[in-house]
Amino acid sequence: MKIGCVGGGPAGLYFAISMKLRDPSHEIEVFERNAPGVTFGWGVVFSDLTVDNITRNDPASAAIITKEFAHWDDIDVHFKGETITSGGHGFIGIGRKRLLEILQERARELGVALHFNSECDPADPKWRDYDLVIASDGINSRFRDAHADAFGVDEDVRANKFVWLGTSKVFEAFTFAFEETEHGWIWAHAYRFAPDCSTFIVECSEDTWRSFGFDRMSQDESIAACEKLFAKYLDGHRLESNASHLVGSAAWLNFKRIKCERWSSGNVILLGDAAHTAHFSIGSGTKLALEDAIKLADVLNRPGLSLEAAMDEYVAERNLEVLKLQNSARNSTEWFETLERYTHFEPLQFAYSLLTRSQRISHENLRLRDREWLEGVERWFWKRATAGKSNKTAPPMFAPFKLREMEVMNRVTVSPMAMYSAVDGVPNDFHFVHYGERALGGAGLIFTEMTCVSPEGRISPGCTGMWNADHVAAWKRIVDFVHTQSKAKICLQLGHSGAKGSTRLGWEGNDVPLDDGNWPVMAASDVAWSPVNQVPRPMTRADMDMVRDQFVAAVKMGIECGFDMVELHAAHGYLLAGFITPLQNHRTDEYGGSLENRLRYPLEVFAAMRSAWPSDKPMSVRISATDWAGDNGITPDEAVLIGEAFAREGADLIDVSAGQSWAGQQPVYGRMFQTPFSDRIRNEGKLATMAVGNIYEPDHANSILAAGRADLVALARPHLVDPFWTLRAAAQLDYRDVAVPPQYLNGMSQLARNLKREAEMAAALRV
Ligand SMILES: Cc1cc2nc3c(=O)[nH]c(=O)nc-3n(C[C@H](O)[C@H](O)[C@H](O)COP(=O)(O)OP(=O)(O)OC[C@H]3O[C@@H](n4cnc5c(N)ncnc54)[C@H](O)[C@@H]3O)c2cc1C
Ligand SMILES: Cc1cc2nc3c(=O)[nH]c(=O)nc-3n(C[C@H](O)[C@H](O)[C@H](O)COP(=O)(O)O)c2cc1C
Repeated sequence: MKIGCVGGGPAGLYFAISMKLRDPSHEIEVFERNAPGVTFGWGVVFSDLTVDNITRNDPASAAIITKEFAHWDDIDVHFKGETITSGGHGFIGIGRKRLLEILQERARELGVALHFNSECDPADPKWRDYDLVIASDGINSRFRDAHADAFGVDEDVRANKFVWLGTSKVFEAFTFAFEETEHGWIWAHAYRFAPDCSTFIVECSEDTWRSFGFDRMSQDESIAACEKLFAKYLDGHRLESNASHLVGSAAWLNFKRIKCERWSSGNVILLGDAAHTAHFSIGSGTKLALEDAIKLADVLNRPGLSLEAAMDEYVAERNLEVLKLQNSARNSTEWFETLERYTHFEPLQFAYSLLTRSQRISHENLRLRDREWLEGVERWFWKRATAGKSNKTAPPMFAPFKLREMEVMNRVTVSPMAMYSAVDGVPNDFHFVHYGERALGGAGLIFTEMTCVSPEGRISPGCTGMWNADHVAAWKRIVDFVHTQSKAKICLQLGHSGAKGSTRLGWEGNDVPLDDGNWPVMAASDVAWSPVNQVPRPMTRADMDMVRDQFVAAVKMGIECGFDMVELHAAHGYLLAGFITPLQNHRTDEYGGSLENRLRYPLEVFAAMRSAWPSDKPMSVRISATDWAGDNGITPDEAVLIGEAFAREGADLIDVSAGQSWAGQQPVYGRMFQTPFSDRIRNEGKLATMAVGNIYEPDHANSILAAGRADLVALARPHLVDPFWTLRAAAQLDYRDVAVPPQYLNGMSQLARNLKREAEMAAALRV
């Protein structure tokens, strides 16, 4: 094949090498606009896995690259005058310029024609003479942008400013240096990539950048300002740029996240940064470029594979990798973009939050890297959780948490889950066993299902209620069991179904009206939940008074039952959520329109409940932090304001759920997918929060808690099939100080022993 590679970066050069290795008869030319030895950027980091891949692909170049690698293990985080050092991170890096030299030499050796100082124009007719044109022309690819529609380019320009500099100061650890200035926070990412040279990337928000006047400085002035700002880390060494072709503030960039729906069009194939980018803070762009090159060379040389099939396989496999990395990169990018959310943390927690920012590194992963450091974090967590009384080194999920005078023994909660099994609202033996069993299972706090304040406020005929003496007696039996037979606390979730009422039992059709016996429903406005649901009657002030009083009456009954805590359900599109979301609330009075107006009634209900509920007992509110409807619905920014508004009325905990407030929602699912909303409310609003949503491993819980993304973690579906989730987690983590019912002690110790033995065997097999 006759192939032209546009761009002599890692992607173009390594593809040329990989093609020649597979079939020396290919005619390959690489066109690079720069002269040899001229390039942007400084060092690039690699992972062990990338080294394995390049070694398998071309042992010759890999041997030279790996010989020249700089290795380092530690990460130093400089923050508020402290340096937090954690080890075991195992990085390898090399200078970009040196990497390109090695690849150029190898390409030449294999017979690739290299043309430097060759600016390529996509409109040049010469490209028609090539069987394939590889667009390896980087993030600002002209070849991609010339056919942006054909490739389905999606570009996201990120908020922060950064400049990629180098220095002769040798940073032995991967160094993050955060500096607070009168203009805001500014920080550096620095690491050694050669015996005498380090990368030094400076980053800050656009506001800070402007406030410093970087937008009006020449490149030299910017560098001088950065040298002054980071003088204490540079020990007199200078900062240097190799972007001298860029004038003034142009050396400062905003990172561009690139995604493409299609990676080929006509005879042009995208490779490396031209096809996709991953934020520099996860250091994976070069790795992706090299691995793209290997895969593309593989499929193009596989006998019998058509070009179309080759492209399908190339894109399918590489796109999956890219999506995974871009997901982590997005988390990491956002962490730096919202840095000020975390600057109130103590240095140790700040460092933990930084290390776990992309969600690729978890609590147990950190334990494997540096056990001693992680145990220091655990001790710090326990000390804070117990106001200095405990010095325990144990997983954060087992640390107690106090809300008003209620102390939960650990941070795991059983999330509210409707069981649709009551008759006339009365919980029965099913509920007694269900809640009792979960209380024995070790969670610190058990939530009841949404318990409705009136018969009309039920979602289905099977919902539990709290409006008469039968309900009080039945719930009291459950609460008494929880209190006498377990150490768990129990919280009563109270709600009213609003527009989503009068529907079938959950397993007979979610949100589907009853076949017969429907009751009229009311809501903020006459907006039906879906075309098959009833159009609700908009509530009058008299209705609002009545429902508020029903909530208060239910709270008083909750006191009689002995509940430890009450939660107001203002999420998931039910009555109160229907007031908060503009998607359901179309009122024109003082309860509709602005967020303040839409919150007025839910806050009134909450305040009335709070005054009826004992002041030493806590109350929470469950909210939907997004309607998953873009700017048309509640947004995560507004969720902070909503949390703050309820906190002003006495909410001690915001239970941060999301969605279900609009039938057309577009949720983005994934592991711990709602936790970022909790993180935001907790750290921007400075409120206690509970995270929920696809948290299913002890490692998730510990990572969320130690990083300060929530104070409690709630698990719903995992508890449906495993009431003993917390005890199992304790056995797995070898944590003994957990509340095991005495009747079950033997089982617990056997489980712990077996799990330990299995872990040891697995470790021995790995060795
Ligand atoms: C601040 C920063 C730090 C980074 N750190 C890391 C890291 O630690 N680890 C890591 O793996 N990655 C890192 N990256 C990402 C990495 O630099 C890129 O992902 C990688 O270089 C992509 O390789 P590429 O060959 O696709 O593109 P590039 O390296 O950009 O190469 C494209 C080449 O094409 C040439 N070119 C462009 N247009 C034309 C044209 N029209 N005609 C001729 N030639 C042209 C350019 O001059 C360039 O040489 C970092 C990126 C940044 C911005
Ligand atoms: C069967 C079932 C019933 C639920 N009922 C309620 C409820 O009554 N009140 C509530 O606030 N959330 C309810 N939820 C939502 C859960 O509390 C939780 O937010 C959701 O399932 C996500 O958590 P998970 O991924 O751990 O399951 C219910 C979830 C399930 C699976």
